[in-house]
Amino acid sequence: MQKVLIIGSKGMLGQELVNIFKDDADYKVTAWDQNNIDITDEAQVKEKIAKLTPNIILNAAAYNNVDACEKDKAEYVKAVALNGKAPGFLAKIAKKIDATLVQYSTDYVFSGYPDIPEPAGCGGSCGSCSLHENFVPQIGFDENAIPEPVQKYGKTKLMGEEAVQKNGEKYYIIRLSKLFGKPAKGKDAKKSFFDVMLAAAKKNKEVKAVDEETGLFTYAPDLAKKTKEIIESEKPFGIYHVANEGPCTWYEAVVELYKMAKIKTKVAPVDANEFPRPAARPYVSILLNTKLNPLRSYKLALREYLKDIK
Ligand SMILES: NC(=O)c1ccc[n+]([C@@H]2O[C@H](COP(=O)([O-])OP(=O)(O)OC[C@H]3O[C@@H](n4cnc5c(N)ncnc54)[C@H](OP(=O)(O)O)[C@@H]3O)[C@@H](O)[C@H]2O)c1
Repeated sequence: MQKVLIIGSKGMLGQELVNIFKDDADYKVTAWDQNNIDITDEAQVKEKIAKLTPNIILNAAAYNNVDACEKDKAEYVKAVALNGKAPGFLAKIAKKIDATLVQYSTDYVFSGYPDIPEPAGCGGSCGSCSLHENFVPQIGFDENAIPEPVQKYGKTKLMGEEAVQKNGEKYYIIRLSKLFGKPAKGKDAKKSFFDVMLAAAKKNKEVKAVDEETGLFTYAPDLAKKTKEIIESEKPFGIYHVANEGPCTWYEAVVELYKMAKIKTKVAPVDANEFPRPAARPYVSILLNTKLNPLRSYKLALREYLKDIK
């Protein structure tokens, strides 16, 4: 029997990790939230986790308020503590007790401007030789792309990745993007984009949505299942990208949502500068997955989610 510790167990992802592991008799699950442990306190992390001696630690706790941490110094300090430093504390204790650590990270570690690949054999950036004829470049950031966050939140998540790499031994860093699923159970629970847009449709005949920031959505139950699969198949330790297939802008996603949910509210595409936000967002943040079997498309996952919340 494997002892698995899930931290941030009431969060959007954490609750799905609990569901997936507790249904399997091979695991003994300990689900901790802020009431059980404050992972920004290194002494607590050392003492409580050394006492529990889990074989696997899944860290789904994070500071996710992208705009608040951009404009407010105190919020940024909180984000650094939780996203930047705490993963290093977990990595140290995981190494000491020989546990596997899973740390979740984000597409926001990337700049938004991916390199455009050339077809094999084309030496330069000609963009026009015969090799380009049937070549469809895969645009996005793979697991080895150089992170270059454009806002403070992304910088804190990158600090966390680096802290795990520096202090850990048996670890997976799993990057995801635009998480959706059942809202977290905590007091400051943030609704996912799809839930926000479902609520907006009840109040408006027309909504505006940004037709930029192309990226992938990640369905929390799919990510939880894939996390278990990565661990059980003993994939090599390192960085993984896990998101549902189907790059889209926010606008394209709302159009799809309303079509599926048979909602009549109109959707107008707008530029990102119509909704000025304190933190910059990557223009394109598609996570390319070169190491794992792909997840299903976000459209299939969204269909399931809509059925589930009916
Ligand atoms: N949400 C997204 O769109 C998105 C996108 C990319 C990456 N990610 C990453 O995915 C992972 C999961 O995110 P999520 O959206 O599921 O998070 P979430 O719903 O905000 O949940 C985070 C959990 O962490 C707990 N927590 C907060 N401070 C803590 C502390 N000091 N010690 C222990 N636990 C603490 C919270 O407890 P309380 O409820 O008591 O505060 C909450 O249950 C994170 O690494 C996040 O950065 C998320």
